[in-house]
Amino acid sequence: MLLVTAPAKLNLTLEVGETRDDGYHGLDSVFSSLCLADRLLIRDWGPPGTVVLSVRGIPVPEGAENICLTAARRLAAGRRALPGVELVLSKVLPVGSGLGGGSADAAAALAGLNRWWGLGRSRSELGDIALSLGSDVPFCLLGGQARVRGRGEIVEPLPFPRRRLWLVLLRPPGPKSTRRVYEEFDRLPHDRRRSGRPDTGGAIRALAAGDWETLAQSLGNSLEPAVAASHPDVERARVLLATSGALGTAMTGSGPTVFGIARDQDHARAMAREVSNRLMSPDWWMAVTRLAPRQEEDVSAAMTDGHPRRPFGGDDGG
Ligand code: C5P
Repeated sequence: MLLVTAPAKLNLTLEVGETRDDGYHGLDSVFSSLCLADRLLIRDWGPPGTVVLSVRGIPVPEGAENICLTAARRLAAGRRALPGVELVLSKVLPVGSGLGGGSADAAAALAGLNRWWGLGRSRSELGDIALSLGSDVPFCLLGGQARVRGRGEIVEPLPFPRRRLWLVLLRPPGPKSTRRVYEEFDRLPHDRRRSGRPDTGGAIRALAAGDWETLAQSLGNSLEPAVAASHPDVERARVLLATSGALGTAMTGSGPTVFGIARDQDHARAMAREVSNRLMSPDWWMAVTRLAPRQEEDVSAAMTDGHPRRPFGGDDGG
């Protein structure tokens, strides 16, 4: 069997431009993988041509509409019946959160099945299928840190910072539809559309330098005013993190998860304790995590947050 890690993504910065001819918006964003991941197990199952999925942990649909099964169908298109497989998805990433859980699962299915079936599809072929599945999937295929442009298909890798960046993630209840958030963004007056803008270049330099105070000043997300208008808990989450000691805060993706930057691991833990002391609501989700390197870069960090981390496409030898 094959066990593939599907790390969450975070948008340290997200700058959204105008609507393009294809209806998508041009982006400029610093994406980062996190040491918080779903896991996808691939094993032999059933007659050739069969792909089934079962889900453990956070419930998501197991039927044909699941993005892992769509990824498998697109990958297998045009090939004769490939060996039957069962996919077992262990889901820890909250759904509809701006953490790219579905995109990570899709990327894990593409990369894992490409290897399991020995299809030998190139990065660029996988990248095309990835983009057909969603704008964040091309980044998730690569992972690590990257500047992402276009609608999500231009992924320029950035070096993994030498100093660890610890974060507290705080997700208020109420998932947001990404499409709806972009529609709300389009309805904002011009000055509001520009109000959440980050300093993308500054964030990239601060990331390379391991300067978390400067990074904290460079954060921003153009979509935040669009979400905050109908979701006051996003602002509440930011205030909670800021007043619990975060160096800086921002929303990730189309929200509603907000993150706070910590100086180090102890600071992140202290922040999380402070937040949970002040937040009495069981509907909120919180996690302490840190940035993860690209899986092939990950030679030193074999452990993350107490969970053994397998190399990308790590083979159980089954
Ligand atoms: O590509 P994905 O399926 O994640 O996009 C969901 C929705 O988000 C799209 O239908 C589109 O409305 C919006 N979107 C956008 N510009 C992007 C990415 C997403 O307008 N770059």
